Amino acid sequence: MPEFSITMMPGDGIGPEILSQAKRVIDRIAKLYKHKFNYTTVYIGGCSIDRFGEPLTEETTKTILASDALLFSSVGGEKWNYLPQNRRPEAGLLGIRKAIGGYANLRPVKLFPSMKSFSTLKDSVIKNLDMIIVRELVSGIYFGEPRGVVTLPNGVRKGFNTMSYKDYEIERVAKIAFDLAMHRERKVVSVDKANVLDVSTLWREVVNEVHKNYQDVELTHMYVDNAAMQIVRDPSQFDVILTCNLFGDILSDEASMATGSLGMLPSAAVGGDVDMFEPVHGTAPDIAGMNTANPIAQILSAAMMFRYGLNLHREANSIEKAVESTLNDGYRTPDIFKEGNQKVGTEQMCDAILERIRCE
Ligand code: IPM
Ligand code: MG
Repeated sequence: MPEFSITMMPGDGIGPEILSQAKRVIDRIAKLYKHKFNYTTVYIGGCSIDRFGEPLTEETTKTILASDALLFSSVGGEKWNYLPQNRRPEAGLLGIRKAIGGYANLRPVKLFPSMKSFSTLKDSVIKNLDMIIVRELVSGIYFGEPRGVVTLPNGVRKGFNTMSYKDYEIERVAKIAFDLAMHRERKVVSVDKANVLDVSTLWREVVNEVHKNYQDVELTHMYVDNAAMQIVRDPSQFDVILTCNLFGDILSDEASMATGSLGMLPSAAVGGDVDMFEPVHGTAPDIAGMNTANPIAQILSAAMMFRYGLNLHREANSIEKAVESTLNDGYRTPDIFKEGNQKVGTEQMCDAILERIRCE
C-alpha cells in the first residue's frame, strides 16, 4: 500500500475548521484508492505565537521538510497585528515558503458553470474563464534587501523595501509557466512594469530567453496596470499569467472575484524541497468557529496536492468532480448562497462532497 506523510497546518481563524473537512476528504480518498496517509499537525502563525512565542519554530520547520506534502490553511488575525512585521503570523507563512523553496505559486482561476451567476462580472464578459496565475513566491519585494523603517538625521522617517530578482530566479519560474502552458492553451502572458522598473527590464529579458525553448507557446508581455484592467475587461483572453511575487498577490485576488468567491480558490507552491498547498483566501476571523466558512478552496487545495504534490491524478479528479456536482446540486455556504440554493454550513458542505466522491 503506497504510504505518504502529509503535514497539516491549520493556522488561525477559520483554518482549523476547513482543514479538518479537507482531512475527511483525504481519508475518503485513502479508503477508495487504498493509500495510507500519515498525518502530522504543526502550528504556524498566530497559534504558534500563542504556544511558542514565535510564528514558526525550528522544530516545525524540520517536520515540514521531512514530509511528502504540506497542506496549509491560513494565518493571521487582529490579535497579533500589534507585533513587528517579522514576528507576525504572516512571517511564519513566508518563513515556510522560504524554507521549502517553493518558488512557483500556481493559482488556478476557473469558474464552475453553476457558479456563473455569482461572478462579479457579466456573463458576456466571463465567457470561458480558465486561467492559471504563476506567481514567483520566494523572492521579489517580499524578501528583497535592504528593507526597513529608519529615522533620518533630519528626523524624517523613511520606510523602504527592495524589489529585486536574480536571473536564475526568473528563469526557473518562467520554465514552470511555459511547461504548464504546453499542457493547456499554449499561451503565456508575462506581467511586469518594464516601462518604469529596472527589475522588470531584466524580468522581460530572461522570460524572452526562456521562451526560445518553447517556440510552440505564444508569449506576450503586459504591463501590470493593463493586466489588472484586462482581467476585468476580458478575462478569458488569459491562459497562463506569469508574474512576480507582488503583482501575483494582487492579480490573483482580483481574478478570484470573477469566479464568485475567494472561498473557492486553491493554490500550490511548487518547485522546492516539498510542495505546499493552500487556499488563496485568508483566515476570515469574523466567521471563525461558526461552521459557516466555505471549505471548498481548502478541499480543492487537497485535490491540487494529489495532482501536483503526489502525482495522483485520478484521486485529484475524483475530488474536483465531487465539488462540481455538489455545486451543481445547489449546495452553498453563505458566501456563495443565492435564493433557491440549499444553504449549508462548513461541515454539511463537506458531507455533500463526500457523498459524491467516486473512484475514477
Ligand atoms: C497570499 C497572502 C499572503 C501573501 C500573505 C498572508 C502574506 O495574501 O498568499 O496571497 O501576500 O503572499
Ligand atoms: Mg494575497
